[in-house]
Amino acid sequence: MTTGRPLPHDSAREHVTGEARYIDDLPTPAGCLHLAFGLSPEAHGVILSMDLSDVRAAPGVVLALSADDLARPADTSPSAHDEPLLSTGTVHYHGQPMFLVAATSHRAARRAAGRAWVEIEPHLPLVSIDEALAAESYFGGGPVTWTRGDVDAALAEAHKVIEGTIEIGGQEHFYLEGQVALALPGEAGEMVVHSSTQHPTEIQHKVADALGLPMNMVRVETRRMGGGFGGKESQGNALAIACAIVAARTGRPCKMRYDRDDDMVITGKRHDFRIAYRAGITAAGKITGIDFTHYVRAGWSQDLTLPVADRAMLHADNAYFIPAMRIESHRLRTNTASATAFRGFGGPQGMLGIERVMDHIAHEVGQDPLAIRRKNFYAKTKIQETHYGQPVSAFVLPDMVKRLVDSSMYEERRDDIAAWNKKSEVLKRGIALTPVKFGISFTLTHLNQAGALVNVYTDGSIGLNHGGTEMGQGLHRKVAQVAANTFGLGIEAVRITATDTSKVPNTSATAASSGSDLNGMAVRAACDEIKTRMTRFLTQTHGVRARQVAFRDGEVHVGGLKLSFAEAVQACYQGRISLSAAGYYRTPGVEWDRAEGRGHPFYYFAYGAAVTEVVLDTLTGEYRLLRADILHDVGQSLNPALDLGQIEGAYVQGVGWLTTEELVWDKKGRLATHAPSTYKIPAASDIPPVFNVDLWGEPNAADTIYRSKAVGEPPFMLGISALMALSDAVAACGKHYPALDAPATPERVHWAVKKVRQ
Ligand code: MTE
Ligand code: MOS
Repeated sequence: MTTGRPLPHDSAREHVTGEARYIDDLPTPAGCLHLAFGLSPEAHGVILSMDLSDVRAAPGVVLALSADDLARPADTSPSAHDEPLLSTGTVHYHGQPMFLVAATSHRAARRAAGRAWVEIEPHLPLVSIDEALAAESYFGGGPVTWTRGDVDAALAEAHKVIEGTIEIGGQEHFYLEGQVALALPGEAGEMVVHSSTQHPTEIQHKVADALGLPMNMVRVETRRMGGGFGGKESQGNALAIACAIVAARTGRPCKMRYDRDDDMVITGKRHDFRIAYRAGITAAGKITGIDFTHYVRAGWSQDLTLPVADRAMLHADNAYFIPAMRIESHRLRTNTASATAFRGFGGPQGMLGIERVMDHIAHEVGQDPLAIRRKNFYAKTKIQETHYGQPVSAFVLPDMVKRLVDSSMYEERRDDIAAWNKKSEVLKRGIALTPVKFGISFTLTHLNQAGALVNVYTDGSIGLNHGGTEMGQGLHRKVAQVAANTFGLGIEAVRITATDTSKVPNTSATAASSGSDLNGMAVRAACDEIKTRMTRFLTQTHGVRARQVAFRDGEVHVGGLKLSFAEAVQACYQGRISLSAAGYYRTPGVEWDRAEGRGHPFYYFAYGAAVTEVVLDTLTGEYRLLRADILHDVGQSLNPALDLGQIEGAYVQGVGWLTTEELVWDKKGRLATHAPSTYKIPAASDIPPVFNVDLWGEPNAADTIYRSKAVGEPPFMLGISALMALSDAVAACGKHYPALDAPATPERVHWAVKKVRQ
């Protein structure tokens, strides 16, 4: 078996030696122009005048364009056609592109962009959730509400009602490779675009739209991204479109990349949320009903906000059966960068809401939060439905938590920590175990499809292409393992080439963690097709039955005869058998009524649980992670090395979101934290010194590729255990419930300590 083996990332060597090519590493084509945007200095206002003559006169400048100079309107939105490439009359956020400069060098373009004379009549920007609420500034017309059962009755009859609010900050993607695109004009109007994108088909579609061309005139290629994390689902559109427009106009190749500060200012981030809750409980701490209100800060355009806000609602239960629930979701339009996809796609925010409720209840009833969580879990023995009506089958969390409690010695450590905290005046420790149940599938049902193209060459080597993109997660390696396995070959026989819209068309974004589920299946279908053709030919020529033909260990067994794979391929080629096939897959059984909030949106759930221990300094609010223990469910792993890497990375990124990564906008809507000097992502030194990560190991109950499970996003939410551990440590300082907001920066922890002591 080639699947299930811990093979390294297919580009591991190239990554560490620097040989891996990102778009900015491609040799710059002769005559290449470099592009930069001129950005709005106001968060909201009307452009009274824009004079680009000094820009055009600047050294090296070939072209400067405002929206009025475009031959046809260009739009960058992935959803609502509400994002002009360049602002048209009104500016909607600080950093919005207003005009475009093309020059002979990257520096010349950036310098020239600073020379515009733009007069803007400033309007009052809506920056905060409160401002947007007061102005009733909504996407989708107004709040969306989903209801299960009679929540009012449940709250009225409850033993106690617990109320609170949690503020949840956004997050910058901080992919190491910033947004970048390179457009190469061809003959008769053809355009080739290299884009650092999770969604080549969307780039193709948007570029074709901007140029007024059919999609068959545009080809998009993506070899790899230096990280995407959702930030390259839609945010690369602007650069690709800008390059294509100037390339079409000038006939010259065009490249654009954002510098880090620009990237942070211009592009969308994780949505920040405020979640208000009222939870009815029994005396024992079991939830009888919850009323949630989600306030979602969406920024200036719709982008992916509606499905992100939906996914937050779909994860408002996390792992818990809640008999009555109402969720009201406010998708608020503000004058900030348009929030977008980010690992978990709203799921983390929704999940944090209910985890906060669990923590709050535990404090209120004086029990261990883990006891409250376990009490409220979905049942293991009978199948219960989620609040949107999907049965929770194969619910392994109770068993996983049991194993993790044992392996991490949770109970013993809890007691030790309590004893230690009694004696320790300044330093306090905290511990928490939190579970994850994450739904796998795109909630927009038609996106759950994929294609692949497999070519077997006459020397027995295999060229493989599929609709997914590589962003560091190791998708290409996993999919190559599937192909190698199907033909009974070693991994070295398979080469995956760049994702290319002319090889596999009409693809979905590599997103929703579904890359290997969808593309793995499509690749297997293509390989099976070729195998079937080869088998049929070999049975005919050798007079054996199909079951006497076997592909294994790099050989093809035909009756008693043993051929090398290459010999068998040669024979088939000589016999005029097609050795190339397209494969296709669509996920079965998913359907979903978005307006009603009911249906079966997910093919299955991925599970995980984490225990985090922290120590904090109550004088300064500084803290450290001491230890993390993780048990995560990847089904039957396609590649345990890559899966462990995904789990570790996702956990650390999740911890960053909830601890040190703080986005600050000033009152004028300017992002104050637009560089690593002011925005603190986790460093290697922030990883807990004891970090035990284990795979659950049971095969997926759903019929996925080799019974594996998606792994990209679910472990991100294991980071919630760090916030809850901090809450536990702060709670040890006083009597009151800490109600810690996120991110729990040292400052915020410091103030929380003061508050619980009052
Ligand atoms: N891992 C790395 N190294 N880099 C990334 O950009 N993106 C994450 C996750 N893991 C990401 C990553 C996100 S947001 C998703 S949706 C999945 O990978 C996408 O890839 P997959 O579907 O192949 O898991
Ligand atoms: Mo991931 S947020 O679905 O790209």
